[in-house]
Amino acid sequence: MKRLGIISLFVILFVAFIAVWNYSYQMGSEEAYVPLEPAQESIIIPTEYGVFQRSQHALDYENMPFDYEHQRSLETYYKNRAFPGAPPTIPHVVADERNMGDNSCLKCHENGGFVEKFNAYTPVTPHPQLTNCRQCHVPELTSGEFKPNSFVKKQVLGAGNNNALLGSPPVIPHQLQLRENCLACHAGPSAPVEIRVSHPERTNCRQCHVPSDTKVQEIKSFTRNKKE
Ligand code: HEC
Ligand code: HEC
Ligand code: HEC
Ligand code: HEC
Repeated sequence: MKRLGIISLFVILFVAFIAVWNYSYQMGSEEAYVPLEPAQESIIIPTEYGVFQRSQHALDYENMPFDYEHQRSLETYYKNRAFPGAPPTIPHVVADERNMGDNSCLKCHENGGFVEKFNAYTPVTPHPQLTNCRQCHVPELTSGEFKPNSFVKKQVLGAGNNNALLGSPPVIPHQLQLRENCLACHAGPSAPVEIRVSHPERTNCRQCHVPSDTKVQEIKSFTRNKKE
């Protein structure tokens, strides 16, 4: 009887020890789960954020075959733009003259693809977030409304000679405003052939490509400032 009492005492002590230890272990490990700061509170630089906008499609772009029959060139690209950087006019009929602010344009222009009716690939919009498309894009209805004047389109630098050395990454010859989303214009079958990128999978474009800064074009021989 006495022995049984001693054994059950030890069993009770052992169970109590396990319970207390378990409780304090859990309390201890709970502190390791201090909630991290929610991701959306981290600072996102707007112009840099856009660089990653279509990254999830990079490998699809990489594996897309070339369709030599339906390629755009920079020449046709600039045809329906009043000047470089101007919103292109809509070169096709739109079903409803008043459709605004819904997804009727994004059905085709969000991800692109071939449209039999227009016999062309749909250019992907670099700004799917600006849903009110026809605020800026209008069809061209007339060709002789304005008096001839002295306006001349600004010439662009064009593609193919923006690198310092053969094989070095070309600088970005254009502004970044409304052009943050690189893959929209530079990848896939709707990209003008001269600027269709050979490496859409490299994700962080601006790691290697920097905007051209015309201010530093005139680099003379470098002289160190003398101490006064
Ligand atoms: C059925 C699919 C489809 C729909 C819907 C559609 N588009 Fe298009 N869009 C195209 C195709 C294809 C082209 C290329 C036409 C060409 O190159 O001849 C194009 C070209 C354009 C261009 C010229 C882009 C450039 O880089 O030159 C603009 C601007 C445009 N569309 C705006 C719109 C707007 C605004 C809407 C909605 C009112 C719209 N589109 C609806 C298929 C579509
Ligand atoms: C605030 C004005 C504005 C709105 C709204 C707008 N766009 Fe644009 N869009 C522009 C400008 C400006 C450009 C020319 C950008 C450039 O060349 O740098 C452009 C370029 C484009 C291009 C040609 C991309 C290329 O390959 O160069 C397409 C396609 C396009 N927009 C479609 C759309 C669609 C579809 C919508 C609606 C979902 C839309 N845009 C809403 C101003 C706008
Ligand atoms: C609205 C469409 C559009 C967007 C968006 C865009 N580009 Fe461009 N890019 C062009 C065009 C068009 C050219 C050809 C030169 C010109 O017409 O200014 C070009 C030229 C270039 C060139 C020079 C290519 C060569 O062979 O010389 C580089 C590099 C470049 N872009 C990088 C970028 C990067 C990086 C981004 C994203 C931050 C970007 N582009 C976003 C349209 C675009
Ligand atoms: C690791 C550095 C690096 C990254 C990241 C990078 N590029 Fe390039 N890019 C280069 C180099 C180097 C060249 C020159 C290639 C040559 O001359 O063979 C080049 C060439 C280009 C060209 C000229 C056409 C061509 O393909 O040769 C364009 C347009 C371009 N890059 C756009 C982009 C875009 C858009 C992205 C983001 C998806 C990007 N690059 C990411 C290094 C890079």
